[in-house]
This record gives sequence, C-alpha cells and structure tokens, in this order.
Amino acid sequence: MGISRNIKVLTTAAELRAESARLLALGGASQALVPTMGALHEGHAALARTAVEENDLVVATIFVNPLQFGEAADLDRYPRTLDADLALLAEQGVQLAFVPELEEIYPGGEPLVRVTSGPLGDAWEGASRPGHFDGALTVVAKLLHYGLPGQGQAAYRAYFGQKDAQQLALVRRMVADLNFPVEIVGVPTVRSADGLALSSRNRFLSGEERTAALVLSRALRLLESRADAHELLDLESARAMVESEPLVELDYFDVVDPLTLKPLAGNQRDAPFRGGGLALIAGRVGPVRLIDNVPLSS
Ligand code: PAF
Repeated sequence: MGISRNIKVLTTAAELRAESARLLALGGASQALVPTMGALHEGHAALARTAVEENDLVVATIFVNPLQFGEAADLDRYPRTLDADLALLAEQGVQLAFVPELEEIYPGGEPLVRVTSGPLGDAWEGASRPGHFDGALTVVAKLLHYGLPGQGQAAYRAYFGQKDAQQLALVRRMVADLNFPVEIVGVPTVRSADGLALSSRNRFLSGEERTAALVLSRALRLLESRADAHELLDLESARAMVESEPLVELDYFDVVDPLTLKPLAGNQRDAPFRGGGLALIAGRVGPVRLIDNVPLSS
C-alpha cells in the first residue's frame, strides 16, 4: 500500500459506488470510510493515516451536516477549508474524497425518518445540544451505506476519533443494535505539545482563552496519573482545579463506563482505582464549547 498523492473528488453516491468498485476490483481486500465535516487538522490526519495503514482503499467524506447543528449561526460559522482538507487527505494517502452537496445527502429536504440516539444521546453532550446525536447518527448511517463495498467485495471499516467519545460510543451501539456490516475503529486523540486536544473549534480561542483551556487536559491527566497509581481518583479536587480557572465554565466532569457512559458507581470511584473507566470533561471557554476525555486503565 504505497502513499499516493492523488485524491479523486466525487460528489455523488453513484460516482462513489462506481469508483470504489473499480478500484477494489484491481485487487483490494478492504475498504475504509473516514467521515468528517472538513476543517481538518492533525487529529483527522491520524484517522486517515490509520485507515490507510489498515486498508487497501480509503474513502474520506467531507460534509457539513446541518442536522447535527442546533443554531443556524453555528452552522454558518463552521469553517469551510476544502482545498486544505483535500491536500491533507491526499498527503495521508487517501484515494477517494466524497464531497456531496446538501441535495445529494438530503434530496427534497431534511429526512422525516431519523436515527434516534436514545438515552445515551440525551446524556452529557446531548443535555446541552438536544437533537445533536440524532442528527449525527442519521448522517453517519447514510455515509456508512454510501461507503459500503459491493456484496462480498471487501472487509469494511469506519474510523472515528476517540476525542468524541460519546459519538464513538453511539456509533458503536447503532452498528451493533441495527446490524450494520462494518467494523468501527476508534483512533486516539491527538494533542498539541501543551496537552490541548485538537479540535476544529480551537481556532476560535484567543491566546488567553487557549491558555485557560489547558486546565481541562491538566485535570484529566491528574485523574489518569491517580488511576495509573491505583490511588483514589478524588474527582472533587480535580473538579475544584478546573473551577478555579475563571475563564472556564465547567459543564461536566465525571468518570464513566466506557461503553454505556453511565457514571461509575460510588464504590468504584471512592476506593483506590482498580477498574477501567473513561474520564469525560466539557466546558465553555470564551465563545467555544470544548470537550475532552481520557481512558483510565485498570
Ligand atoms: O465527528 C464529525 O466530524 C461528525 O460528527 C461526523 C461523524 C462526520 C458526522 O457528521
């Protein structure tokens, strides 16, 4: 699997199906989908790179999905950087980019029937972004169908960032609960040298806000080091650390089961840490809502 600097841009599902079938027929045994909304950064590059390493044919999608935005203003200000995005994907060796217009994905307007994310979609991020995960899962379901290789033609995998832990958990549940023939692969979060998790939203932070935002990853690292040392997690002191940063408005900070995202029971968090878990954090910093998480090993 050599790195090719060529990427072919396709705008319709019919073109995507024909082109991926043609390329696979040349001898590919696996096909991957990397769904994105563009505004790509090193975190997306890691997704694409992993997909390229593990598969013969990689399709990345770039589509800003209106269904998962609450306010029109958020959708309008979502950065559109198509040329740079295509260059980044080509650099990783992605062969096909599916960049559909709105009408291709939602012909005749928004779909009447949608995927419902259920109680898992109402918690954490869902509590402050009602409908967000229904919208995200609906488009992910459609994209997974568009990227499906022809019958028996190849193994099929799709790549999602662990940074969006709730989205990843929901996509895994959707695929399991609704029998999608695809393996979901979670790719570890990419951070700047100072610890900030990469996000397309970081560009909206001022210098001062960016420095303040570092408290989120610092607090997660604190829990991680306590978990690694099998100490008490002492979530309260980690929370207090975040709350002492005046530019950060903490929304939630908790330790949850990695699959169900339910908070760990009191006896698991109040004793020296032994079991696996996931620490989730979210807060508003200036104009931006930031999320981050870290797996806590056993
Ligand atoms: O994580 C994202 O960028 C989006 O939620 C996704 C998965 C591409 C669906 O629009």
